[in-house]
Amino acid sequence: MRIKAIGSDFVAEITDIDLRAPLTDAQVIAIDQAMDQYAVVVFPAQALNDDQEFAFAQRLGPLEETRAVVDVHKQRLPYNQMNDISNLDVDGSIMALDDRRRMFNLGNLLWHSDSSFKATPAKYSMLHARVIPPEGGNTEFADMRAAWDRLTPEMKAHIDPLVCDHSLIYSRSQLGFDAFTEQELINYTPVPQRLVRRHPGSGRQSVYLASHIGTVHGMPRPEAMVLIRELTEHATAREFVYSHKWNQFDLVMWDNRCTMHRARPYDDKHCKRDMRRMTLTDSAPTLAQPA
Ligand code: OGA
Ligand code: MN
Repeated sequence: MRIKAIGSDFVAEITDIDLRAPLTDAQVIAIDQAMDQYAVVVFPAQALNDDQEFAFAQRLGPLEETRAVVDVHKQRLPYNQMNDISNLDVDGSIMALDDRRRMFNLGNLLWHSDSSFKATPAKYSMLHARVIPPEGGNTEFADMRAAWDRLTPEMKAHIDPLVCDHSLIYSRSQLGFDAFTEQELINYTPVPQRLVRRHPGSGRQSVYLASHIGTVHGMPRPEAMVLIRELTEHATAREFVYSHKWNQFDLVMWDNRCTMHRARPYDDKHCKRDMRRMTLTDSAPTLAQPA
């Protein structure tokens, strides 16, 4: 196994490993160490099928058991824990342009951290590229530890104690999507998360931002949202961002505790993009973790 930094100091590439084979304990440890030091790791040319992607993810820690989707019954993938990050319908054709799932999935174009809207949010996400479009469809990552480091001491002191409410309803309503069912509104009840968290593997502080944020406790909403925009703009300045141009069979793993990411547009009306994501769950709600 070979690890080398690529492009940016929070992104590495790992080669000389076959993720189809069961990982050894030493490989699991080395991957975790690389994740702690970097935050985004690219494994090129891993021709995994669903069973192999599932087994690989499961080996690294407890999986998220529920998907945050709309129309949950319309599923194409064999595992409940596998997220369908594609523009494809159950029969493999491109989704109808007015499909509710398409509207909902467009929320991935906003900067976010996976599952920050769940009481216990996500740890690592692993996204595997099965079919990529000829152009566009990059995924961008932003380094939230570097963003914290570069804040002024005054801003650090101001935001350090703050708690935000996160919900999928907040991120989707930014795009004008409000077609939630009663059950979805219940499922996506806002949850509190710290705005600043300590990344356990590196000991570094990180801002914990996402488009899922809709309020900051103790602040009027407009004041809260102006602050969140300000911080998001800072944290996603190009100096903190790595843009991943996909090759087929890349597997990209990121740490949601200290990065944000977003999809970039592509011609989703005519080109297929089929990506499948496994997600590890974090240990506890951020408020139950050490500050
Ligand atoms: C995800 C996600 C972005 C993309 O899989 O969690 O946000 O580029 N994906 O598809
Ligand atoms: Mn995501």
